[in-house]
Amino acid sequence: MPASASALPRDEQVIRAGMVGMGMIFDETYRPFFEGVDRRPLFDPCFGPCRVSLAAVATRTGRRAEAYRRQAPGSVGGFASFDGPAAVERLLQAGVDAVCIATPDDRHFAAARAVLAAGKHLLVEKPSVLRLAELDELDALARARGMLAKVVYHKLLDPDHKRLRTFCADDVLRHVNNGYASLLEPKSISGSQFAEWIVGRNPGTYVAVHYIKLIDFTFGLKLKRVSCTGQRGIVGPADGPTWDSTQLRLVYQHADGREAAFDVHTSWVTPDNFPGYVEQEVQFRFDNGVWNGHSRKRGVEMTVEGATPLKLKTTLNNHYNAPVLEPWGERSQRGYGLEVIERFMREVAAVEFGGPRDERPARLAAARELAYNDLAADRQVVAAVEAMEAILARHAAGQPECVVEVNAPEGGLVLRAPGRPEPEILYGPPV
Ligand SMILES: NC(=O)c1ccc[n+]([C@@H]2O[C@H](COP(=O)([O-])OP(=O)(O)OC[C@H]3O[C@@H](n4cnc5c(N)ncnc54)[C@H](O)[C@@H]3O)[C@@H](O)[C@H]2O)c1
Repeated sequence: MPASASALPRDEQVIRAGMVGMGMIFDETYRPFFEGVDRRPLFDPCFGPCRVSLAAVATRTGRRAEAYRRQAPGSVGGFASFDGPAAVERLLQAGVDAVCIATPDDRHFAAARAVLAAGKHLLVEKPSVLRLAELDELDALARARGMLAKVVYHKLLDPDHKRLRTFCADDVLRHVNNGYASLLEPKSISGSQFAEWIVGRNPGTYVAVHYIKLIDFTFGLKLKRVSCTGQRGIVGPADGPTWDSTQLRLVYQHADGREAAFDVHTSWVTPDNFPGYVEQEVQFRFDNGVWNGHSRKRGVEMTVEGATPLKLKTTLNNHYNAPVLEPWGERSQRGYGLEVIERFMREVAAVEFGGPRDERPARLAAARELAYNDLAADRQVVAAVEAMEAILARHAAGQPECVVEVNAPEGGLVLRAPGRPEPEILYGPPV
């Protein structure tokens, strides 16, 4: 970022973005975001107009980058492309200001650390990282370098989830006691889309994390215990480390001492032709009410011969990411999947261009306070992910039914195995 950014003529305000990983999520959300902002720059009274350009990309082989360049509209295809083992380092030397990471989840940390160490703003896909020690390191680096470190949980911007949180904040729905969430992905995800990195992975870390965050952010409870089981045998061998489906249980505590429990079921081996393609459902039960949500069945159902349910979806989620012909004739793509990326860019623009340079620390501190996406506020979610991964690893090693206690006398994350008196301390400091 130029040293005197806020003194720049307003037509020169630009965020040069870097993109690490150009897979499915790039195509669904980042691509339409960059294409839209190329046509219409950001604007806010606090920072004025601000362009966002896709300046550089880093991928494993470079093939997807070149394929995209050929079809990218406007000036979007002008990015520098790096591939191979040093791709991220080279991207960081290419004059970028903010970097988005959308690599497989067990490859987030190394790239995120390099981004922050180079003094760039960071946006990383969910789950941010897989271990609390990694989160601590990234948070410390972000503070030391004076940069934003943010994570994408786009379901927090889903209008239904915003409404749920509003009812809770306004005390219309009072004191959640328990609930469930289920997110089922088709077999094509584990069988072909993610085949390159699937070994040793599980659908819980990949998608239960959406609901862990929703519960964590919406209800504001203290995490107490994590348990998890799962099934194997379709994606990999029945006794191997790769999971077809997982059932996670999270137990939290309210400030008044009462507990709340949530079951989160996930799979990535559902038949490819089941109507939803991705099936998402929640139920939360309160002292005075029940919330039932189905993120897919929001009222639209469509059949097109030869196209649904594979090429086109039968029950469409038009809130996430919908290509539309606007009433005023323009083609656009909109939804909360893109909005969450735009919000991050607006936060970067506000920090860098939203006032005098000497007030940047106050603007940075304000942006870091935003718990919906700041890495520092992702502790309980990463704790749940770390616990789930450790429990599944023990299960694969022949020891099922372990439980992780959070903030136990022995440490922050303590794994207890049935019949074993000695616990394993996964993370020492308080969560
Ligand atoms: N927000 C959401 O709902 C959502 C949805 C899908 C995926 N995601 C997240 O996005 C991330 C990527 O998922 P995806 O579905 O796009 O996966 P994908 O397998 O389709 O794409 C991964 C991309 O990362 C690249 N890559 C892999 N290793 C790399 C490395 N070391 N350096 C640079 N590039 C590398 C691959 O070449 C590929 O372009 C995951 O963290 C996933 O959890 C989020």
